[in-house]
Amino acid sequence: MQFPFLGTLAACLLVACGTPQLSTPPMQFDPSHYQTRQLTVAGQTFTVRAYENLVTVARPVEAAYQAVNIYVPEAYFHGQSVGPFTAQTAPIFLPNQIGGYMPAKPGTPTARTGPPGESARASTIAVALSKGFVVASPGARGRTTPTGKAPAAIVDLKAAVRYLRFNDARMPGDAEKIISNGTSAGGALSALLGASGNSPDYAAALAALGAADVRDDIFAVSAYCPITNLEHADSAYEWLFSGVNDYKKIDISMLDFQVQRKEVAGSLGAEQIRLSSALKAQFPAYLNSLALRDPQGQPLALDSAGNGSFQAYVQSLVIASAQTALNAGTDLSGLAWLTVQGGVVRGIDWDAYVRTAGRMKLPPAFDALDLGSGENQLFGTASVDKQHFTSLATQRNTAPGATQADAQMVKQMNAMAYIGVARTAAHWRIRHGTKDRDTSLAIPVILATTLQNQGYAVDFALPWDVPHSGDYDLAELFAWMARISTAP
Ligand code: DHB
Repeated sequence: MQFPFLGTLAACLLVACGTPQLSTPPMQFDPSHYQTRQLTVAGQTFTVRAYENLVTVARPVEAAYQAVNIYVPEAYFHGQSVGPFTAQTAPIFLPNQIGGYMPAKPGTPTARTGPPGESARASTIAVALSKGFVVASPGARGRTTPTGKAPAAIVDLKAAVRYLRFNDARMPGDAEKIISNGTSAGGALSALLGASGNSPDYAAALAALGAADVRDDIFAVSAYCPITNLEHADSAYEWLFSGVNDYKKIDISMLDFQVQRKEVAGSLGAEQIRLSSALKAQFPAYLNSLALRDPQGQPLALDSAGNGSFQAYVQSLVIASAQTALNAGTDLSGLAWLTVQGGVVRGIDWDAYVRTAGRMKLPPAFDALDLGSGENQLFGTASVDKQHFTSLATQRNTAPGATQADAQMVKQMNAMAYIGVARTAAHWRIRHGTKDRDTSLAIPVILATTLQNQGYAVDFALPWDVPHSGDYDLAELFAWMARISTAP
């Protein structure tokens, strides 16, 4: 724990402050204030220094969340290298723990417990440390508190980035090589952090909290199944799932700071089916407005029925995923909706694939008419817990006295709004499983394609048969991180 204001007081005494002023920013990293931890990864035990619950801003409003845990391999304090890195060159891995747009504490390297019978696996943070990355896991405020509404979580992540850059010379790791990671809502925030570097849209909020007055752009983004682009996610969902009327929805709640999920099955009624069609009908105009192109430069578009080259492109990505699985020895022979000939995946029955993936959300998937979704709560204010954030849901609202969120607040949560407009990260790795139904496949495809079209380096794939989850391919993730960090 740090005592941020003592530094300020000492500085004031030294320079004889007249009016109280922050002559030394209070969030100064103290390398001598740590605990030692032993971690074991793949049978190897090693030591790290743990600096936990460091408050990242001078004037926190929820200090438990506006904080970062920093872990540094002990080797870096003895002039040694770990893998390809030294204390000067080690990238800083920035995994957020955000789920469901809930408040998230900074992460720790404690072991993950797997299914019963399986021994505990090393956490993502522990594996990162074993590979020589410095780890800074930021907390962030979330939707359940009056001060945690949008854009609080992204402001907190930016404050953490600024803390690391402000303290770059005082700690091992290279703050010009910050690599963000997150899953789902955390994936969306990871993408938003990478897209929106130094954007003036967050300057007032950061200044009010007393964040360090330095840049907040980052080097790279890893995002698993990002639940982003929320104002277009309802229509994207129905573009994919319209016609699938049975659902298995997941209710998200919070227990002891862990996000809990419970499955509830049902079937859409006639009114919901009409709503699904209305939402689907909105999607082609939005998609076409983006003027996306595939990697060969061909336009990606949709006709008014939702068919066209964009749909074919999404299908080709799922087919590529099946091919990768097949090449790796996965048995696909039981899948009647996949055409496989001579070791080559030649086609997919799209409707059957979508039915197999299955609908999880009711229309509108995100902006619920009764303000019942987590996203409605995300877009509340300090005095109004839940709001709409699309005009369609506002028009069809069923909740008493409902209001619509300020458009600027909605924009501030959407990575799409900042790509190439702000200082966008150069390197991206985006993963979204083919079995993920939490948002439409169109959402990560649009994100990845927008980045690619603007010249950013994007490693994008839809891992075969993977449901809504993240950090399932750590060997590949850390190999990618090492590659982009050491490239000349
Ligand atoms: C998450 C999942 C959702 O379906 C959603 O709408 C928002 C967040 C999550 O797992 O973080």
